Amino acid sequence: MQIFYGKTALMDYLSSIKATNSTIGFVPTMGALHKGHQSLMAQCTQENTITVVSIFVNPTQFNNPEDLEKYPRTLDTDIIKITEIDPNIIVFAPTTEDMYEGKTLSQPFNFDGLENKMEGKFRPGHFDGVGTIVKLLFEIVQPTRAYFGEKDFQQVQIVKKMVAKNHLPVTIVMCPILRETNNLAMSSRNERLTLQARNEASIIYKTLKEAKEKFTNNSAQKTTQWVQNEFDKNKDFTLEYFEIADEDSLSTCNRKNKNKKYRAFIAVFIDNIRLIDTISLN
Ligand code: PAF
Repeated sequence: MQIFYGKTALMDYLSSIKATNSTIGFVPTMGALHKGHQSLMAQCTQENTITVVSIFVNPTQFNNPEDLEKYPRTLDTDIIKITEIDPNIIVFAPTTEDMYEGKTLSQPFNFDGLENKMEGKFRPGHFDGVGTIVKLLFEIVQPTRAYFGEKDFQQVQIVKKMVAKNHLPVTIVMCPILRETNNLAMSSRNERLTLQARNEASIIYKTLKEAKEKFTNNSAQKTTQWVQNEFDKNKDFTLEYFEIADEDSLSTCNRKNKNKKYRAFIAVFIDNIRLIDTISLN
């Protein structure tokens, strides 16, 4: 396995590969890899000549310093998990200094309002941080395709918008959510849950599935109220938001339109750990 810790060395290496007309698949990650990441890598290796995986805990996308500090950093086990998928995968694990060159700041983006909803509303500046690092990584790796998980559906829409606005020649591929046996969406944050919290967190997807059923015969408002009541009954969880929104604009569904695709989005806290999930409603 080849590991690059600096962008210049990686760019030099990739430029020789590009000259051979190979396709480059890219999986950007913040490490603490799990089976969800591995499924992105597996799809990426099938669809491209070479695969690059980046591991970089991006400070500018954390609005909460404690969250950044506690984010798991597990490079050695991450490398083992990447090797399990394919030992030929190229790993890019840069330092903050190498990525930001002394100015660890995000650039302001206009994502046509996508950035102000849900995750953007509750995590101010988060998507400027995501936009900044993903654009930088795309400039370094220059991928043909880049792979992102559906759990972060809003992030996928933001990245697609950034790609379109900057005319970047990369195809964004969204891969399905992988779930634990109790249906909790796989996430690096799950590692921080106690066994009890992890078990209890099955309520998140259970509620999403029931909300999906309710939404077939009820309004978005009624469905949202029902979800709120379910979480009010469970004192271990704090519901930060539940939204039914149009998939394209991410605008809240006020009145159902049969030509639109809707999706439910949820963020909850348990034991001070923030978990998100989503489900398509059509
Ligand atoms: O989804 C993530 O892990 C991060 O937001 C990403 C895309 C790697 C950017 O830091």
